[in-house]
Amino acid sequence: MDEAEGRQGPPAALDWSRVRDALRGGHIGGTGAAFVYLNNTPSTNTYARGLAGQNLPGGSVVVADDQTAGRGRLGRGWSVPPRTGLTFSVALRPPAADGAFGNGLIMAAALALYDLIHDDLGLRPQLKWPNDLLLAGRKVSGILVEASGAVGGGDGLYILGIGVNVNAAPPALEQRATCLATALGRPLDRAAVLIALLRRLDATRAHLQRQPDAVWQRWRSSLSTLGQDVRVGLPGGGGVSGRAEDVAPSGALLVRDAAGHLHTLHAGDVTLSPPG
Ligand code: BTN
Repeated sequence: MDEAEGRQGPPAALDWSRVRDALRGGHIGGTGAAFVYLNNTPSTNTYARGLAGQNLPGGSVVVADDQTAGRGRLGRGWSVPPRTGLTFSVALRPPAADGAFGNGLIMAAALALYDLIHDDLGLRPQLKWPNDLLLAGRKVSGILVEASGAVGGGDGLYILGIGVNVNAAPPALEQRATCLATALGRPLDRAAVLIALLRRLDATRAHLQRQPDAVWQRWRSSLSTLGQDVRVGLPGGGGVSGRAEDVAPSGALLVRDAAGHLHTLHAGDVTLSPPG
């Protein structure tokens, strides 16, 4: 995975047909699944949700070289320079009546990114609750899972959206974000990264269907947040400070405050509390 896309001149378009060919044997992007490449779109998650109403097969992939209104967690945006990163969505159909699949999918996706960055690229990522991958304390990737249709009833889809800063980080977030190329000291071939990541994702997704508890345990033991003193900003405003003690099988973060109360937090934004 060591090629030099974009070394000279403007960044090239993603070689999506190479990605499609490489995925033929798997569930994600494989035979029967749709593979949509877009030069630009407001958001691949929004695009995939639009297709979901038209019987989109599970395992389908929507990838864009530029998003004009990319969406992040907690109502935030996701914006990266065109053709420098990966912005894509995967449509996955949950096993019948598996209400916990959506939570597990977030964990499976975070582990796929962790494995890509750690095992395939030889870097040392941190996994920040719930699903941010960091390098040297700066965000390199984010995950947004959305349900489309009646997922609990068996005819819906989960839309798993992933953004990875490959060859550039958003200039506006210089202090908080980084990219794989900065960590490695060389640019990367985005198609090769996408192939490796989708294969990793297919493996962690299959593991989730076989052994959801094992995926939760692996995600739990990979989280760098546990054992830390944190402040968790809550979606509705306000926050909770305390020690991040554990996570529940649902993915909720368990934080014990100074008075000894245990808070079960389902969503939020973690920052480390300064020592002392
Ligand atoms: C986050 O960390 O806040 C989640 C970011 C998720 C961004 C990806 S990029 C592809 C997909 N389409 C979107 O609009 N968002 C997700």
